Amino acid sequence: MKVGIVGAGMVGSAAGYALALMGIASDIAFVDMNAALATAQAEDIAHAVPFVSATTVSAGAYDELTGAGVVILAAGVSQKPGETRLELLSRNAVVFRQVVGEVLRVAPDTILLVASNPVDIMTQIATRISGLPAQRVIGSGTILDTARFRSLLGRHLDISPQSVHAYVLGEHGDSEVLAWSNARAGSVGLLSFAEQVGRPLTEEIRAQIDDSVRNAAYKIIDGKGATYFGIGAGLANIVKAIIRDQKDVLSVSIATPEVAGVRDVALSLPRVVGAAGVIVDLFPQLDPQELAALRRSAALLKEQADSVAL
Ligand SMILES: NC(=O)c1ccc[n+]([C@@H]2O[C@H](COP(=O)([O-])OP(=O)(O)OC[C@H]3O[C@@H](n4cnc5c(N)ncnc54)[C@H](O)[C@@H]3O)[C@@H](O)[C@H]2O)c1
Repeated sequence: MKVGIVGAGMVGSAAGYALALMGIASDIAFVDMNAALATAQAEDIAHAVPFVSATTVSAGAYDELTGAGVVILAAGVSQKPGETRLELLSRNAVVFRQVVGEVLRVAPDTILLVASNPVDIMTQIATRISGLPAQRVIGSGTILDTARFRSLLGRHLDISPQSVHAYVLGEHGDSEVLAWSNARAGSVGLLSFAEQVGRPLTEEIRAQIDDSVRNAAYKIIDGKGATYFGIGAGLANIVKAIIRDQKDVLSVSIATPEVAGVRDVALSLPRVVGAAGVIVDLFPQLDPQELAALRRSAALLKEQADSVAL
């Protein structure tokens, strides 16, 4: 399957590189308004391919995306001095209006995979602009926050993160909800597992993990200006679930009819992802505080998405 990537900056190129190393796409095609950048990224990644896979990597105008089964949207404009968050959002909506129209012209059957921030709102906007069923407009959402949560829990418990079953729900951002109450290690409740292995999850350790998950991006941006390897691998993982019809349960964002009493809002829940996009939405059991926090996150996102003029 061909995978298109619009936006060949740090995130788009990291996703392309991860996909090339995984060898799961037949072709990867980059489009960027900076054509020279797209070509350079494609060539650089193409030189990694002979070591690992047989993926073809190219760049060009939108026609290059013809027939793509998945198109990653990683194009974005950054905040100008003095610009409000809402003004930035409106400019990104304009970018998406142009990009989504061009993508669907050449790949009408594609699944859109949104990475641009604020990712939940851009997912809602892409859903409205495209007119596609919500199941085919997937935001990367909290895929990365969930990976960070599992990694920190795994490190504390001294087990592999793959054996930790825990999700971050809601917004990819400040109001996100770490679902502690239903988290498990293997088949054992998290707190019980922690006691059994003599590494209790005290209030203090839980607060540290919460802070590290919630503020990871800020710390990375302080150190190197942007985050991209983690999200690149996360995007490639979502593409893998689609290409191989894996039906993985992933925390991703799509426009959802109702979440915790808030109607028509895009945010992350665990969802089954396969060849058709999102196949099933899952509503995990949460304790009252987590449910209230999810409701707050949903209401905040809903208010922001509704305030963007399209
Ligand atoms: N979802 C996540 O977890 C996550 C993580 C990190 C970054 N991001 C977001 O991903 C987006 C990209 O980040 P980045 O670090 O790659 O930025 P970047 O500036 O390196 O790349 C953005 C690219 O988009 C291109 N672009 C802008 N407008 C375009 C248009 N109309 N058509 C085609 N290309 C266009 C630019 O030329 C640029 O190459 C940002 O919105 C960022 O906030 C999301």
